[in-house]
Amino acid sequence: MLAGFGGFFRLLVEVGLDAERLLPLGGGEALRAAVGEEFRRLRVVLEEGFEDVGDPAARMAWETRICGRNANFLSSRPSTGIRPAIHLFAAMLDRILAKRIVPVIVLDDAESAEPLAEALLAGGLDIMEITFRTAAAEESIRRIAKKFPEILVGAGTLLEADQVKRAKDAGSQFGLAPGLNPKTVEVAREVGLPFSPGVMTPSDVEQAMALGCKLLKFFPAETAGGVPMLKALAGPYGHTGVKFIPTGGITSASLANYLKLPVVAAIGGSWMVDKALVNEGKWAEITRLTQEALAAAAAV
Ligand code: 3PG
Repeated sequence: MLAGFGGFFRLLVEVGLDAERLLPLGGGEALRAAVGEEFRRLRVVLEEGFEDVGDPAARMAWETRICGRNANFLSSRPSTGIRPAIHLFAAMLDRILAKRIVPVIVLDDAESAEPLAEALLAGGLDIMEITFRTAAAEESIRRIAKKFPEILVGAGTLLEADQVKRAKDAGSQFGLAPGLNPKTVEVAREVGLPFSPGVMTPSDVEQAMALGCKLLKFFPAETAGGVPMLKALAGPYGHTGVKFIPTGGITSASLANYLKLPVVAAIGGSWMVDKALVNEGKWAEITRLTQEALAAAAAV
């Protein structure tokens, strides 16, 4: 038995999960299905206490078992020990990979956050990237995290270390940035926020990999060469396991071309949550555009 492994399952059971169902689990999807809406409470319990698995080989085995396909992504991150909360966050990242669409949201008013969340859920999307471009971002994330445990809420446009901390404190479950800033990557690791920095060139990709990041935002996707550029990047980097979330200029019409690429994990875009639609409260239209986008992604 790995050190800490039994403790982890004891905690799962403590928050009300069925040990009989949990013990045979082998991967992120099964764990996610079992944990379901208990994630939020579980996260709190797990963050408060867990025994680290110190031995690297044991840690890798544990991560593979808990996080399935995200294990390599996590193991590449230098760390002195593991915290299951981080691993559960990574399991949640599977949800991004499942829907393969990340709506990039700019909110001028935190009052819009909840109706927007409802509009996206009605369209079938349970992910939100709320960008730290407005004063309303932090409060919006806080509201979504509190009211919609079924939504994977993340923070975008994290340009400074302090924003990473605030995003995490507000309840963000993942973070992204348009560029690669080693300081924000470091702070994200410190606070346990799964983080995808932005890249545009081979040098960016290598620097991100050197910092332990393997899920990278490719920004600004269309301007930076779009699908042909990603195909080119897949040549030298595809075998490393690095994956991209291209964002910038993508629409329902073009998303399939990106999602067909094995090196693309998901795409990001703002068209279905356009600022004008949000500010005018056009929730039904947002739901319609979300459904359209998901249908296009599902057809790939
Ligand atoms: C981003 O912030 O990632 C982009 O501004 C989103 O790009 P889009 O508005 O072209 O979809």
